[in-house]
Amino acid sequence: MTLARIGIVTVSDRASRGEYEDRGGPAIREYLSEVLTSDWEPVSRLISDDESILRETLIELCDTVGCPLVVTTGGTGPAQRDITPEITEEVCDKMMPGFGELMRKVSLEKVPTAILSRQTAGIRRGSLIVNLPGKPSAISECLDAVFPAIPYCIDLIGGPMMTTDETRLVAFRPKRS
Ligand code: MTE
Repeated sequence: MTLARIGIVTVSDRASRGEYEDRGGPAIREYLSEVLTSDWEPVSRLISDDESILRETLIELCDTVGCPLVVTTGGTGPAQRDITPEITEEVCDKMMPGFGELMRKVSLEKVPTAILSRQTAGIRRGSLIVNLPGKPSAISECLDAVFPAIPYCIDLIGGPMMTTDETRLVAFRPKRS
């Protein structure tokens, strides 16, 4: 099985300055370790909410590292420095709005402020980029909702076969007719 490098990007001014510990990035890594049974390795980045650094980081992970999946956490809200969805859209060839719609729907069942996240997802050539909010508790809430569709999405963009521990999460692949 091909090794999938998965980009994990924490976008946070304060965590990148060391003012608090990054808990979002490690939570994504932990989630993927629990769910994936196919070979993968994390490629983690901790950066500030800076447009050009985020743009360069996403392009590097997609084009140079060749990640079929890049998951970001943070920078999806309404504050002036929150620019993750804009930069995601800028680097993507096509957007996948269903990801944001579903993640906000499930998050709203937990917190009324879920509508404050503009989180989205999109495709840059062979890479799927998915935005998550910065709250560590949002990581599994959002990924549990959208992850069932991610392995098939990666098949469709020509990425490696990803399999999951079906006792934890079942990846849906439509049967060929
Ligand atoms: N979604 C979930 N599942 N859980 C949360 O706690 N927090 C919300 C929202 N989405 C939250 C959530 C809040 S308070 C904000 S401001 C937005 O995500 C944006 O967060 P971000 O700027 O850290 O990405």
